[in-house]
Formats: sequence, structure tokens, C-alpha cells
Amino acid sequence: MDGNGRWAQRRWLPRAAGHRAGVSVLTPLLETAGRAGVKTLTLYAFSTENWARPESEVKTLMKLFLETARQKVPELDERGARLRFLGRREHLPASVREAMQEAEQMTAANESLDVYIALNYGGRAEIVDATRRIVADGLSPDEVDERTFASYLYAPDVPEVDLVIRTSGELRVSNFLLWQIAYAEFYVTETLWPDFSPQEFLQAIESFASRSRRRGGV
Ligand code: IPE
Ligand code: MG
Repeated sequence: MDGNGRWAQRRWLPRAAGHRAGVSVLTPLLETAGRAGVKTLTLYAFSTENWARPESEVKTLMKLFLETARQKVPELDERGARLRFLGRREHLPASVREAMQEAEQMTAANESLDVYIALNYGGRAEIVDATRRIVADGLSPDEVDERTFASYLYAPDVPEVDLVIRTSGELRVSNFLLWQIAYAEFYVTETLWPDFSPQEFLQAIESFASRSRRRGGV
């Protein structure tokens, strides 16, 4: 969900206003995802690198997360979405961790759409954390194959990613789902996240649907 800052800057608004505008596109997008038959959607909300931002912006983002969770989790629950989080929880404020747990519990039995929020998430951190747990479990080298490794990731049932949508025109991966995107297709758009519309979301899905995925084959 990139481009909130630039969206605000272009309007001479504080960055916080961009983050707020970014939140407001979530409901229509999730609705569209459900209608389009998307089964799993992951939103990159806060990376392990985002702590490098000014303390005031980090605080704003955490506050906004709490506010958004309070408002949107019941809404998502009603729509049958199951919410889960990816990332290192231990460094997050207690209030945020509690809200995460509550959201997961409230929506655990839902089945229509899986929504993952990557929060304090880093792809490298995920791989390191998985490796640590493999070592702690005492697995022998020949027990570790791709399937076993994947079962140690934050959410083992996150399927292989089909499509990564990157807003704000950046041509980089930014530590997002490194393991899971091995064969993902990319859709990069100049659109800033707060302007990302359901129409463009459908356009991205259409673009994905027209590609031939060979996965190293012919
Ligand atoms: C939102 O966009 C990403 C979050 C960390 C919430 P940015 O804040 O990175 O926006 P730009 O890149 O400065 O435009
Ligand atoms: Mg950015």
C-alpha cells in the first residue's frame, strides 16, 4: 500500500492525511475482492524497515491501525472474511497486539475471504524466524525441504502468491513475502495507494488472467 506520503504531499497535507486516505480505500477494495472471487489477499501495512520513520509517524500509523481495526474488523467479520497477521509481533505495542489477537479470534471461523495483514513484516525476517524454529525443533538437514521449510513460515497456509500489485510506481519488492512470491506475477502502477480504485484492481486481475504462467517450463 505505497504512495500515501506522496498523495498527501501533492495536496500540501501532512503525511498522516495520506495514511488516512489510504485506509479509506480498503472497504471498497475488499468488497471487490470478494465479488471477484479472490480467496486470499495480503496487505502490506508496516514493514520491519518502517521503524526508521520519525517516531511521530510510527505513532500515527499504530494509532490508525487501532482505529481501523475497531471500525473495520466487525465489518469484515460480517462479510465472512478471516483476518490474520504476518510479522514479528513482539516489538509491537501491547494495544496493537491485543487488537490483532482479538481480530483473529473474532473472524477465525470465517471462510469467504482470507485477509492477511503484514504488520512489522519483513520477508527476510520471516525466513530467519522460520530457520530459527527449524533449528530449535532439531530437524536434521535431510528433513528440510521446500515443503517443510514453508510449514515454518508465519502462516504456513498462505498459498503461493499469484499476483503482486505494487502501487506508486516503485520497481522493487521491498522485502515483501520473499519466499511466497517466487513465481508471482507483478502489476506495477503509477497510481498512489489512496487513489487505487476497485476498477483498477479489476484491471490488475484481468492483466494477470491474460498472462501465460510457465513457471520455468515452456
Ligand atoms: C504507505 O505509503 C506505506 C506505509 C508504510 C503505511 P508511504 O508512507 O510509504 O508513502 P510514500 O512512499 O512516502 O509516498
Ligand atoms: Mg513508500
